[in-house]
Amino acid sequence: MADKDGIRKDHNYHLDIPMKNEPFTLRGSNSIAWGMKNRFSNIFNPDTNRTVMLAVDHGYFLGPTTGLERIDVTIVPLLPYADTLMCTRGILRSTIPPTFTKGVVLRASGGPSILKELSNEEIAVDIEDAIRLNAAALAVQVFIGGEFETKSIHNLTRLVDMGNRYGIPVLGVTAVGKEMKRDAQYMRLATRICAELGASYVKTYYVPEDFETVTAACPVPIVIAGGKKIPELDALKMAYNAIQQGACGVDMGRNIFQAEAPIAMIQAVRKVIHENMKPEEALKVYQTLKKEKK
Ligand code: R5P
Repeated sequence: MADKDGIRKDHNYHLDIPMKNEPFTLRGSNSIAWGMKNRFSNIFNPDTNRTVMLAVDHGYFLGPTTGLERIDVTIVPLLPYADTLMCTRGILRSTIPPTFTKGVVLRASGGPSILKELSNEEIAVDIEDAIRLNAAALAVQVFIGGEFETKSIHNLTRLVDMGNRYGIPVLGVTAVGKEMKRDAQYMRLATRICAELGASYVKTYYVPEDFETVTAACPVPIVIAGGKKIPELDALKMAYNAIQQGACGVDMGRNIFQAEAPIAMIQAVRKVIHENMKPEEALKVYQTLKKEKK
């Protein structure tokens, strides 16, 4: 008989309960496909729609920068506290334990080193390899106003097309050249261009004035880079202000792994991002954990 179950008497079809159709509430992401939503849920905590991305991809143009000399020693212990890891495929394969099951945002552009014109990047990963590595997203640098602006935009749009084919989101990373002014006007321009051209989410830098206009004008989630190492309280204030002004998280590197106590710092950052903890309180958390060496 085809339907053996049909003879059972104890089925319950819950006819009184309408089928749930939960909305996907991450900013700007309601209409994307299931696979992409699933990957996003491994980047942004679905309870808060926010993320603490740990950025350790700096070596792709900087080499072994301070704090990243030995990723196995300094970064692997931080993994339990990150929502997501951003790194290159070289580091992922060689150094990150495959038992790490949170989202990996794969650096997918590269080319020039710090010794050359940085905007002259190419796509640096095949989509098949990103799938093999089970990437949750691909990250591509976009140099608005840079010498190779169009080429970097083209890298973004090609990766978006590839990502869309397989349900992999693309993070547009707005790179600020030496000669460019870091202000809200520039960040609005750069982030909006990334979103308009298909980035699923965008990374930018925090600007103290009018940052809320940057997040308001970008229809997809924005995360902020940490930038150069600054005192812990200032980094926590920056994260707090960014979140309160509409950012959906941080993609923070140096202000975590160059902190005196990186494990304590990432936990303090989590408090700010996921619990809206005030920076001064989060600093106390940092200091206590640092003292307890946790
Ligand atoms: C730099 O280009 C890398 O993409 C980093 O991921 C990014 O700058 C975030 O790291 P940090 O917080 O150190 O600025």
